[in-house]
Parts: sequence; structure tokens; C-alpha cells
Amino acid sequence: MSFHIPDLPLHDGGRIPAVGAGTWPGKGNDLADRLAAMIRDGYRLIDTAAQYANEGAVGEGVRRSGVPREEIFLTTKVAGMDQGRGLTRAGLLESLRKLGTDYADLLLIHWPNPSRGLAVDTWLEMIELRTEGLVQHIGVSNFVQHQLEELHAASGVWPVVNQIQLSPALARTELRAFLAERGIVAEGWRPLGGPEDPMGQIITGKIARRLGVERSQVVLRWAVQQGAVVIPASSNPHRWALNADLFGFELTDADLADLATLDLGEAAAWDSRTHEEW
Ligand SMILES: NC(=O)c1ccc[n+]([C@@H]2O[C@H](COP(=O)([O-])OP(=O)(O)OC[C@H]3O[C@@H](n4cnc5c(N)ncnc54)[C@H](OP(=O)(O)O)[C@@H]3O)[C@@H](O)[C@H]2O)c1
Repeated sequence: MSFHIPDLPLHDGGRIPAVGAGTWPGKGNDLADRLAAMIRDGYRLIDTAAQYANEGAVGEGVRRSGVPREEIFLTTKVAGMDQGRGLTRAGLLESLRKLGTDYADLLLIHWPNPSRGLAVDTWLEMIELRTEGLVQHIGVSNFVQHQLEELHAASGVWPVVNQIQLSPALARTELRAFLAERGIVAEGWRPLGGPEDPMGQIITGKIARRLGVERSQVVLRWAVQQGAVVIPASSNPHRWALNADLFGFELTDADLADLATLDLGEAAAWDSRTHEEW
């Protein structure tokens, strides 16, 4: 099995694969072997985070794959406790040590954690880390509009990516419109929808049957067809192949309108003004 995943432009001139491999909550040898197999099958974008405590296994998976490092798009994230001047740099260096690499392709602020007020300092330091070549691209995760505007006001630099909770059940329509206007790529975490269960809905099954695909493919295609990146996690080779097989069929406008009825609204998403992670 081997497949090709297309990529999307970033506003800084780079490109990002449209489908990547989530790694949470994988760990250890299992994760290293699984990632190596996923990479050999065609995955190039790998999503990890300091907070997942699995960067060592991710680095090992990349090495075991035999695919050259420069062909891999490795994302990691600044943990809450590593926000702030000096700490952001130290956190990245520790991530790179564990990953066994001298640069990350994409570094994200994992959560804004507004109670600490350190996101802007973190962002300014990330701009320096990019200049130094320790990261190729810089972005954020779980930021809402006013939090993105704060970073831009202080630096004149928009993130290239905002990784957000995203599925047909949490469509984030207004936030995605804001991102699109600034050329910021939306990257969907929990793209299969988790407890909101967009895969289990009658309309998803109906569309899947008509197109001759799986429900999971309908849910992931919904995101990529609107320009988002998705990072589904699977420990099952059949499923991870299905999750990358999103480019041989298309949802119609009527399908998109039907799937829009599944949206539970912004209030159902984890609230970035109050939810914090460390
Ligand atoms: N930035 C953030 O704050 C944040 C938060 C959460 C997650 N993330 C990232 O996003 C990634 C994805 O999120 P997630 O892991 O929570 O959710 P997800 O990828 O939407 O769902 C993973 C679950 O779906 C199952 N699954 C995978 N493919 C399937 C398919 N084709 N059909 C049916 N079930 C399938 C998996 O089980 P099997 O293993 O049995 O296939 C697993 O239980 C994470 O791994 C992590 O890298 C980021």
C-alpha cells in the first residue's frame, strides 16, 4: 500500500500536506513502529506536542521509516508551561533533542492560556526561532479571533496555521472565514468528530452510500474540500489508508448543505477563553 497526499500553500511561501498523522495518545515502541509504517505508506505530516510526552517515539518512527528527514513535515507544540521569553526557546530545544532532529517544520502554541498572558511573548520568541532556522514555519492552536489579532498587533505576523477542533459537528464557520481572509490554514484536530459523532449521523451514512465510500471519508473530505488540513489518528492500517484516501471523490453543494445541519455551533467547542492546558 502506498498513496500520495497533496499539499496546500502556506502564506509564508511554504507548503503543508493536506492530511497528516495524529499521534496522541500513542507512545513508545508501538507508536514508533506505527508511524514508520504510516510514513512508508505515504504520510508526511506528523503531529506531536511536548505535552503528549511522545516526541522520542515520534523521532524514532521517522528514523525507522527510512524516509529522508527533509521529506517529513514535523509539527510540535509549545506546552503551556513553556510559554514566555526564554522558556519557549528552551522548550523547543528540548523537543528537538527528543525528536532527534535539528529543526521542526512547524511549531504551534498549543493553547493560548489567557490567564497567564504570555502568548504574545511566546509568539515574539517563535519569530526569532524561525529566523534562526530552528523552525521552518510558525503557527498556533486553539486560538480564536481576538487572540490571533493580539499576536498580529504585537508583531505584524499572522500564524501560518491555526490547529482547531474541527468536524462537520463543530464547523467553526466564522473562525474559519476569519482565517481564510488572512491566508491562515485551518488544521482540524479530532477531525472524525469524537463524542459529537458526525460519523454516526444518518445523513453521513446516506452520502457515504451514494459515493461508495466510508462514513469516515465523508467526514474528513468535508474538511479538506473546504481547504482545511486534517490530522486523524489511527492505529489500524486499513483505517489510516482510508483516512488519506480523500481525493478521488467530491461532495456536492447539496451534501455540504446537508452536513451543515450537523453543526452544533461555536458554544459546543472547547472554549479557548477558559480552557487551558499545561
Ligand atoms: N491541538 C490540540 O489541542 C489537539 C487536541 C487533540 C488532538 N490533537 C491532535 O489531533 C490528532 C487527532 O485527534 P484525535 O486523535 O483526538 O481524534 P481523531 O483522529 O478524530 O479520532 C481518533 C479515533 O478515531 C478512530 N479512527 C481513526 N480512523 C478511523 C476510521 N477511518 N474509522 C473509524 N474510526 C477511526 C481511532 O481509532 P483506531 O486507532 O482504532 O483507528 C481513534 O479512536 C491527535 O492525535 C493529536 O495529534 C490536537
